[in-house]
Amino acid sequence: MIYDFIVVGGGISGLYFAINSIKAGKKVLVVTKDKLDNSNTYYAQGGIAAVLDRKKDSRMKHYKDTVSAGSNVNKKSAVLYQVKNAPKFIKELLSLGVHFDKDDLGKLRLTKEGGHSERRIAFSKDITGQEIQEALIKKVNKINLKIKEKSFAIDLIMDRRVCKGVMCLEGKELIPYYAKAVVLATGGAAEIYENSTNPEISTGDGFAIAKRARAKLNNMEFVQFHPTKLYMPRTRPFLITEALRGEGAILRNKNKVAFMKKYHDLKDLAPRDIVSRAIFNEMKHDGGAFVYLDATHIEKKFLIKRFPNINRQLREYGIDMTKDLIPVTPAAHYMCGGVKISLSGKTSVKGLYAIGEVSCSGIHGGNRLASNSMMESMVFGKRAFNSAMRFIKYRRVKPNKLKIPKYTYVNKQYKEIRQKLQKIMWESVGIIRHEDELWKALNNVNQLDLDIKLITKNKINQDIIEIRNMVIVSKEIIRAAIKRKKSVGCHYIE
Ligand code: SIN
Repeated sequence: MIYDFIVVGGGISGLYFAINSIKAGKKVLVVTKDKLDNSNTYYAQGGIAAVLDRKKDSRMKHYKDTVSAGSNVNKKSAVLYQVKNAPKFIKELLSLGVHFDKDDLGKLRLTKEGGHSERRIAFSKDITGQEIQEALIKKVNKINLKIKEKSFAIDLIMDRRVCKGVMCLEGKELIPYYAKAVVLATGGAAEIYENSTNPEISTGDGFAIAKRARAKLNNMEFVQFHPTKLYMPRTRPFLITEALRGEGAILRNKNKVAFMKKYHDLKDLAPRDIVSRAIFNEMKHDGGAFVYLDATHIEKKFLIKRFPNINRQLREYGIDMTKDLIPVTPAAHYMCGGVKISLSGKTSVKGLYAIGEVSCSGIHGGNRLASNSMMESMVFGKRAFNSAMRFIKYRRVKPNKLKIPKYTYVNKQYKEIRQKLQKIMWESVGIIRHEDELWKALNNVNQLDLDIKLITKNKINQDIIEIRNMVIVSKEIIRAAIKRKKSVGCHYIE
């Protein structure tokens, strides 16, 4: 079977592209390495940004906030395109059945996060991503979209320099799938760091797949660290949304002193890179592993109603956010760089498109403005779809005679190697970087790469491929960080 499109990834980027394809009568297959409800989209708490109140807000303000958070290295045409088109995608989400919070008059409630000068973020309590993902899943079930869960894309199938399919690992088997165009929508790579807000599946597969196919990557040094992951060792990562600060919560150091006014005029609502570095600095000064987030002065009823998920999760850990301070620490959160795309989602490899976190449209510049990412998935996803439709119009694809190298499937996890890599990345390629440390990190990752290749020679399983992918992404980040000599956005050189 030759598909029109194979979409790799089942978050907002992948599902939205696939829904458009089905609407256009195309044959599409979505492959995703886990279950559909385990994606970065699902765990997004904050919201989705668009100018919706044109009395107080304007597109120019959204543009300026995006560029200012991004340290002015954003691709300006991408920013303009997104801020102009964002409102109509909120309407589309509503028509897909997404329930955003509304006031008594039925108007969307809007919130604020770091770097936003106005309230312009539509949200669904503190589970916006889950709400969007569930609405998309409902829709794809209705339209009988073909989805293969637990199908792990490991490489592209190429015909000379043109992409024509994907090789997937399903259980112990390698299965080739063919299509006229392939769309990478694989999300991020925060699992390469010891501390992350992402689910474990964020191993940077799409970046590595693209790199092996010689696609260009861009801005890989810009790894965004979220300021407030719950500090609770040996538990699953849990984000405390920036929207909590948007509603008035403040950061306090070990001595319970509010410190953000020392660092930025916007205080607790400064752009994310600045808040993360400020926390890092305070922790270094105090010798602690966390700071506090204080929401105790916010009205109790409002707090619980607005943030029910966070309230429930914190209570499980014995924290009552209406009375107690919440221990938080920064953690790797989002890749602002990625597979370089044009505004039409085209990568530098023919037949290969990329959308969402795995891609680099340039809209985020050096540091993403909060809640701009799910919108990017839709705005540029739609453009990628239109462009891919033109590309496949006259394309004919035949299956290859594939030479699959001999391999042995092994039932083994390589946890220690993964942890070694995560430690190197966290300690030497983190929030504050030093050039000599970056070189050391590159040497260490190169050595780790050789060790992995030796230990896992001719062996295959998901863990092995993921670790190899993580190594490729780590090297790309380190090399890009070494190249950029000056601090910009979330790349900070001391
Ligand atoms: C958050 O809710 O703080 C995260 C939102 C985002 O990363 O845009």
